[in-house]
Amino acid sequence: MISVLVLNGPNLNLLGKREPGVYGLVTLDEINSMLMDEARFLGAEALCQQSNHEGALVDAIHATVDTHQGLLINAGAYTHTSVALRDAIAAVNIPTVEVHLSNIYSREAFRHHSYIAPIAIGQISGFGAESYRLGLRALIHHLRQ
Ligand code: DQA
Repeated sequence: MISVLVLNGPNLNLLGKREPGVYGLVTLDEINSMLMDEARFLGAEALCQQSNHEGALVDAIHATVDTHQGLLINAGAYTHTSVALRDAIAAVNIPTVEVHLSNIYSREAFRHHSYIAPIAIGQISGFGAESYRLGLRALIHHLRQ
């Protein structure tokens, strides 16, 4: 069975309370259970992890080898800063879809650049929690091709 790692970066554990005007009221637990249901519906499985620490996220990406076939990632602010996360994904060479709740291109200029996007299959940004569902569907579709 296809297994996907869903990885969330810094501050996403605060979803529901954090800047609700930007990120909405949905919690990370709610997103994770929606994704696990969606994966099951698609005949796959999703394992969900979150960390506020860059090195822990690098470790989680390394651990996908022999365990997961795809990576769905919202790296939060590390999207815009982390060469280490980009290099980790490139190193394990796992098919990756990048997602964001907000439309990063309609926000501050520093959010317009992603270190991950060039090595991802694609990016979905701006649809709130639905970005994750769309990203999961696209990733599983890609893995089945
Ligand atoms: C985010 C967008 C990032 O710019 C920000 O730092 C986040 C959340 C999003 O999902 O919209 O933490 O990745």
